[in-house]
Amino acid sequence: MHLDQKVSLKTLHTFGMEVEARYFVEAKTLQEVLTLLNYRHMIHMPILFIGRGSNLLFTRDFPGIVIRINSKGISVREEAGEVFVTAEAGEDWDPFVQYCVDRGWAGLENLSLIPGTVGAAPIQNIGAYGVEVKDVIDSVQVAEISSGKQKRLTNAECRFGYRDSIFKQALRDKVIILNVTFRLVPQDPSVLRLGYGNLEGELSQAGVVSPGIADVREAVCNIRRRKLPDPAVISNAGSFFKNPVVTEDQATALLERYPAMPFYPRATGQDRSQKLTGGSSLPGFSDGTTPRGPVKIPAAWLIEQCGWKGFREVDAGVHVTQPLVLVNYGNATGSQILGLASRIVDSVREKFGISLETEVNVIG
Ligand code: EPU
Repeated sequence: MHLDQKVSLKTLHTFGMEVEARYFVEAKTLQEVLTLLNYRHMIHMPILFIGRGSNLLFTRDFPGIVIRINSKGISVREEAGEVFVTAEAGEDWDPFVQYCVDRGWAGLENLSLIPGTVGAAPIQNIGAYGVEVKDVIDSVQVAEISSGKQKRLTNAECRFGYRDSIFKQALRDKVIILNVTFRLVPQDPSVLRLGYGNLEGELSQAGVVSPGIADVREAVCNIRRRKLPDPAVISNAGSFFKNPVVTEDQATALLERYPAMPFYPRATGQDRSQKLTGGSSLPGFSDGTTPRGPVKIPAAWLIEQCGWKGFREVDAGVHVTQPLVLVNYGNATGSQILGLASRIVDSVREKFGISLETEVNVIG
């Protein structure tokens, strides 16, 4: 392992800010990760563990040591018709999804093309196109940073929520994720989740009559490539904000003022449920136009309504096709992105009375 000084983080995170780490080290094996933890008590400076840095916003140079977890390895156990796949934290997410899809194991295909690593996936419970990673996580192996002691957390112990988990709450900065075990099933059309947005439409447009998991993966990749900026081309960290959840009363009042406002039928946040617009009629609502219980509203819509879609100021911008994503066109600073984010939050609050919450991890 190499400990380097004054390392540029520009290519080590997807927002592409020109910031520096005072020290940087990469752990390429599980053993190297554990060795670093053994030396933890000798490191008297802030530590930041990163994967591919796809959910980070740096607002200044990092004054401590950045440890990149890059451990690799996949092992498989089959049991009672299910496949338990354990992947090391440093495995890249999308190639891992491809690996499972290639072998006909269903469960991860809707989460195709999400940037990042396997180890980062449980932290914010990544989700897309009707699936959250918690739906297929069996357990997560962690090491306590202070002692190096290892523990396996069950799915329930991870306390997953919408873009949330124990790793962002009680265990924040206390453990690192070493590997994740997924519980997948051999391909079976009945397990496919096609209900989100236009996934079914995308498949039928491609002429797919009875889709398999590879078809779903391809459809998801196509939608993502059309709508979301590729961080390799335009720097970004995916959704900058969470989709807000509002009370039934708030939603009803908003729908009176904005009848075309889209909303999700369920509060718990799994964007598994099909989206509704004011005129839709789907289960979960009394008459298709009146929400029952708290509901989730797409932040993208709120931001677009406030006129921000495609906005650009110098190199900080709001993406042209998905306004939930803030982008760095080249030399934006973290502070410029944060400044833009706070103007967006203010205008959404003023117009709709809703406070958007940041989804990316701001380091500063
Ligand atoms: N919308 C607009 N204007 C736009 C784009 C979208 O009004 O320009 C509205 C539409 O009503 C649309 C709705 O927003 O139906 C939802 O859009 P989309 O399907 O793109 O999803 P999202 O709710 O904006 C969430 C996740 C994404 C994930 C997509 C697809 C969060 C914070 N974001 O976005 O995750 O890819 O669903 O499942 O929940 C990420 O977390 O980094 C991320 C990209």
